[in-house]
Amino acid sequence: MSDNIESHLSENRIFKPSKEFSKNARIKSMAQYKRMHKESIEKPGVFWGREAKELTWQKKWTKALDWKAPYAKWFVGGKLNVCENCVDRHLTNGRANKAAIIWEGEPGESRTLTYRQLHREVCQFANVLLAQGIKPKDRVLIYMPMVPEAVIAMLACARIGAVHSVVFGGFSAESIVDRLSDCKAKAVITADGGYRRGGVVPLKANVDEALKKYKAVDTVIVHQRIGDKIPMKRGRDVYWHDEAARVPAKHVAKAFDSEHPLFILYTSGSTGKPKGILHTSGGYLTGTYSTCKYIFDMQDDDVYWCTADVGWVTGHSYITYGPLANGVTQVMYEGAPNHPDFGRFWDIVEKYGVTIFYTAPTAIRAFIKAGDQFPDSRDLSSLRLLGTVGEPINPEAWMWYHEKIGGGRCPIVDTWWQTETGAIMISPLPGCTPTKPGTATLPFFGVDAAILDETGEECAPNEGGKLVIRKPWPSMLRSIYGDKKRYRDTYWNDYKGMYTAGDGARTDRQGNFWIVGRLDDVLNVSGHRLGTAEVESALVEHKTVAESAVVGRPHEIKGQGVVAFVTVKGNVKTSEALAKELRNHVGKVIGAIAKPDEIYFTPSLPKTRSGKIMRRLLKELVATGEVSGNITTLEDYSVIADLQKNLKK
Ligand code: WTA
Repeated sequence: MSDNIESHLSENRIFKPSKEFSKNARIKSMAQYKRMHKESIEKPGVFWGREAKELTWQKKWTKALDWKAPYAKWFVGGKLNVCENCVDRHLTNGRANKAAIIWEGEPGESRTLTYRQLHREVCQFANVLLAQGIKPKDRVLIYMPMVPEAVIAMLACARIGAVHSVVFGGFSAESIVDRLSDCKAKAVITADGGYRRGGVVPLKANVDEALKKYKAVDTVIVHQRIGDKIPMKRGRDVYWHDEAARVPAKHVAKAFDSEHPLFILYTSGSTGKPKGILHTSGGYLTGTYSTCKYIFDMQDDDVYWCTADVGWVTGHSYITYGPLANGVTQVMYEGAPNHPDFGRFWDIVEKYGVTIFYTAPTAIRAFIKAGDQFPDSRDLSSLRLLGTVGEPINPEAWMWYHEKIGGGRCPIVDTWWQTETGAIMISPLPGCTPTKPGTATLPFFGVDAAILDETGEECAPNEGGKLVIRKPWPSMLRSIYGDKKRYRDTYWNDYKGMYTAGDGARTDRQGNFWIVGRLDDVLNVSGHRLGTAEVESALVEHKTVAESAVVGRPHEIKGQGVVAFVTVKGNVKTSEALAKELRNHVGKVIGAIAKPDEIYFTPSLPKTRSGKIMRRLLKELVATGEVSGNITTLEDYSVIADLQKNLKK
């Protein structure tokens, strides 16, 4: 197997949940986990049928699974309304006056929506969408700050059968254009702005810019978060509150087919064009519902907080759909973790008595760097369970999280999954799984995970290989929107009938899965996926750039940083100023997370004789300053020597 997926970690510390935790947890022992896992793999229809039955179906399915690789249909013939399951269901099960969302704005205000209030808001906004002519299967792009209206907008789309595509508020106008034109959206829901690090993110202004290029949007609905006067285009732009005042707050949720499309979410792949991952209704909801119930062990008196943005899949599955389907109370926070300082998250935990806390390793590393005085001076005793997602967590960060935030008593669920998988796939169950810092441990129910070598043989313990899922699962992606070929080529081409995740991994002797990282040209920057090809194509769009190669390098906080090698056109002079301009250019084309940390100008890039850029060499060079691997296919050796000199400067 290639050397980049070998792993040399050996971690011997083992942490078991306390007796007290296990006693009250849904899954209390490894024996129970094993029994249920076995059933879920051998009789997926029985297992998932039981899970799905806990939800509300307007018409029951006739067949749990229809699998014609690589296309799955779950709960065939069943009809449900996803929004009804997340909201209406709780009006009659004793949760009507329970807080659904406790929101805190970055400037400090807070707002609570009970399930009854959430229901009213969602119904009213569903009527707004209907009044604007939105029909089932129409695509609606959502570009919002972290305010309850973002969740309300998603749920209202689901309620009327429209397909939402949420774009992270940190992405640029050009990123919006790409996504709008790929999914051919009819309407956009946005806000006049959102607060972030004390400033205002000009969301509506970015939408305006995007709509100069993509003209097929008839309606822009603007939530007034900031209240400043902003340009509104007559006949196209309307304010959310004005339209809401014109429609009733009653709406009866109609059922849609279990395989009705629910959302498209764009994510990076190895080519420049982001992939529109398509998720559907019944299976996705069952998967997110069930993982919340077992992995976050959600109980009726929990206060759950996931710090992700709704613009990422974590925000879809573990803010909007999974938690609300479980009827839990959740905290939602608008702003930055370090505003006004690094104590903000811990203030929120203390203030609302958060019991379950789910965040990213990159945030944990930033907290470690900021200093222990921030968590030490807050009361975090309400916490009972911690989670991480987005990238492998380094054992040091795991230990700090365990001790400083969890007070040594909270189990940590390190959850491995992807935009494509829809829900958590590999994770400890907090009441039973022995955890080790750095491993996501064992497959969830219904997940038949394995590590295979190039020939399709299963790897021995501690041998690196490719992570695959051998059987379909309810929340799996159904396709790449509008591109079935790319769907098949990307995920189903390596081994017959099996899903390839694109991650390298190994198992240890106890069967724990250790994820090593991506095998393709995808970086993981602060837990966010970024294709090197996307950054490269942004760079070559700039008038001075002839060619570029982008690689990742280990980064203390972000996990991976972005390094760009750039060859400029003939008579262009390189300078610090040009490097800065290029960085800003990438920020403008994609978004701030994609800005290269470093840019190196070079007269040429290392290539194979057939002209392929050898990114592997560049990666090694930026990580170690040397190139040790096989370079026999390199066309011109002097390029490497020049680059080495350049990097030392
Ligand atoms: C990585 C985020 C190790 C992995 C939910 C995966 C992880 C990619 C973990 C998906 C984890 C996510 N341990 N690696 N616990 N969680 N990853 O689509 O490389 O934004 O393929 O979904 O993040 O990123 P995505």
